[in-house]
Amino acid sequence: MSILVTGGAGFIGSNFVLDWLAQENEPVVNLDRLTYAGNLENLSSLEGDARHIFVRGDIGDAALVPSLLALHKPRAILNFAAESHVDRSIHGPGEFIQTNIVGTFHLLESARAYWNGLDGDDQRRFRFVHVSTDEVYGSLAPQAPAFNETHRYEPNSPYSASKAASDHLVRAYHHTYGLPVLTTNCSNNYGPYHFPEKLIPLCILNALAGKPLPIYGDGLQVRDWLYVKDHCSAIRRVLQSGLVGETYNVGGWSEKTNLEVVQMLCDILDEVRPLNPASGEWQVGSGKDSPSLSTAHSLLPTYRSLITYVADRPGHDRRYAIDAGKIERELGWKPKETFESGIRKTVRWYLDNQRWVANVMSGAYREWCERHYGK
Ligand code: NAD
Ligand code: DAU
Repeated sequence: MSILVTGGAGFIGSNFVLDWLAQENEPVVNLDRLTYAGNLENLSSLEGDARHIFVRGDIGDAALVPSLLALHKPRAILNFAAESHVDRSIHGPGEFIQTNIVGTFHLLESARAYWNGLDGDDQRRFRFVHVSTDEVYGSLAPQAPAFNETHRYEPNSPYSASKAASDHLVRAYHHTYGLPVLTTNCSNNYGPYHFPEKLIPLCILNALAGKPLPIYGDGLQVRDWLYVKDHCSAIRRVLQSGLVGETYNVGGWSEKTNLEVVQMLCDILDEVRPLNPASGEWQVGSGKDSPSLSTAHSLLPTYRSLITYVADRPGHDRRYAIDAGKIERELGWKPKETFESGIRKTVRWYLDNQRWVANVMSGAYREWCERHYGK
């Protein structure tokens, strides 16, 4: 028995693979194209572990995927692979259409052919789990109830529109062909191995480097944050006990404005890595309201002085919030971390993993991949 994970070198996929192999003995075939977001260094602790079979390739490869399915005979496919960054989708939607829509279509076709060829029990047991996002539901008014699974789809960015299209294809493959699919729609994740162009890692790393912490618009947009390991446990639970054809919303009941998130990061950093103006590590005081390095002790700079308002994201969704009631009631899943505990672990992880950070920032992790895994 094995499972096929796509996008398993990305942020959530690599956390999923690591957690899976820490808890199960069942091998993982990890298919990842290694775009800018794929980083095999996330999986370096699995080097030499025969249960992790990494294959560099595209979910849309209609020759490679069927051959992998025929060779490894997985009992499930978990589809994490996607272009995932909203800002990149605004600059260039093409890759999003290609991977998230066309790629998912080809993956579904490969899965359907494979599933059709399975015998009795293997066919009954097979599952296709599609990992999707709350962004497909669009933006919520301030007092509106959180998204539940019947909320209509109203995607607003090329990214969310492409994920919405993939969700619809997955649904159609169940209704039309009977493919045993399950879909999860999760809120914003954070935690280890988060690529530093997303808000939380960006702000941790910028703060440590004394760079501005860019807040889009007024910073009062709301996101509902979930620690990545909790997302992984929800996906495992859906694979194990979810009802075929159903969708499950996954979230942490943890709505925060972007400004609150960044201020919390600053306050934690003030506590665990206080600024020392004497060290000359970085200079604050470029803005007229920021304290200068020569101010009295009571005015020692804090990380909050780095917060900088910048132009808003075009079409920026104002609020996301997930009603996770269904997965809690029906599958007994609950997140383990609160935002307060998860964000502390995350800050600690970035402080403790400076080599990972340096490699990602310099692009050297690409050389690392070539060196350790060849092509
Ligand atoms: P990520 O960008 O960090 O990782 C995506 C991975 O997919 C990368 O390793 C990349 O190399 C790989 N990939 C991209 N195109 C591919 C292709 N054509 N074939 C094979 N591999 C390909 O993304 P993430 O944040 O880990 O998100 C994973 C999934 O979870 C995505 O489907 C995303 O939509 C969904 N999701 C993310 C969040 C979040 O907060 N990050 C929340 C909810 C849902
Ligand atoms: O809601 C789930 C989604 O969360 C996932 O589907 C996406 O794959 C994932 O990238 C994430 O999307 P967001 O756009 O919400 O994440 P990001 O970290 O890019 O931004 C979080 C919020 O912070 C958002 O409101 C935009 C804002 N932001 C972001 C950046 C990078 C800033 O204010 N400044 C920034 O520099």
